Amino acid sequence: MHEQPADWHGVPPPTPDADLDISRWREYADIITDSLWLLGARDRSGPHSAEYHGNFVPQIPNQIVRRFTTRGETVLDLFSGMGTTLIECRRLGRHSLGVELNPVVATRSRELAAQAGDLHTVRAGVLAGDSSSAEVALEVRETLLRHGDGYADCVLLHPPYHDIIRFSPDPRDLSNCTSHPEFLEAFRRVVRNARDLLRPGRHLALVIGDRYAGGEWVPLGFECMQVCREEGLVLKAINVKDMQGNERGKGKANNLWRYRALKSGTYVFRHEYVMVFHNAG
Ligand SMILES: C[S@@+](CC[C@H](N)C(=O)[O-])C[C@H]1O[C@@H](n2cnc3c(N)ncnc32)[C@H](O)[C@@H]1O
Repeated sequence: MHEQPADWHGVPPPTPDADLDISRWREYADIITDSLWLLGARDRSGPHSAEYHGNFVPQIPNQIVRRFTTRGETVLDLFSGMGTTLIECRRLGRHSLGVELNPVVATRSRELAAQAGDLHTVRAGVLAGDSSSAEVALEVRETLLRHGDGYADCVLLHPPYHDIIRFSPDPRDLSNCTSHPEFLEAFRRVVRNARDLLRPGRHLALVIGDRYAGGEWVPLGFECMQVCREEGLVLKAINVKDMQGNERGKGKANNLWRYRALKSGTYVFRHEYVMVFHNAG
């Protein structure tokens, strides 16, 4: 069922160099330390594109990877989609491993990540499978063991915001969960896998937004945050990111949403969350 990582060169990781040298903190003006993230337009350079509805802007993994890892370390993304994290990792000299349920998307993401590979010799692998399963957790562990001690140095999670975008007809797809509790339970299984695969002492970032259901604001972000905390992860930040770079809210659609919001006493989503957790181990 699972495809082997296509672009896994077996190159030993270089000795980590402390990319973020705190004694030179004044030089890192572009690393965000405020909780309001105004990232602006999507970075479309290189293989990055907006062709996949639901991908995040590359600036998100760029910020997380540069802040919380060093060169030669390994980043795991359990909802890797079109490979935004993998592309960014290759550019930044970090090894990466993604898991994506849709095998067609997984294959395309491998191709895109490979296109970003000429700057650094780093591995970028994608497994096609269900991140909430024990089987995939084992496969990830085995892959990480082939190149190290079985742990990732940083984990990113960008799950479907329940059914806002249906990514596939696969019943294991979190966007197909038939109820809110079912979604949270499936997400919890992914978080457990993520926590167990993340090296103690390192960081996990959750990128998530809220939704409306039946005219009521559903605080999906905070509920997923709570799942992470219940599973033992320590909350370090709730960053609010503006959605201007996500290609939503243009032209006529923008007017329609504003009209509907005014009529129904609701608000148009213009933000999502980048929550950061520490794995105290
Ligand atoms: C919000 S998108 C992530 C997009 C990604 N950050 C990017 O930039 O391309 C969520 C992804 O999770 C995938 N997905 C849904 N359920 C999954 C599951 N159980 N295991 C692994 N991937 C899943 C979907 O196919 C979709 O590509």
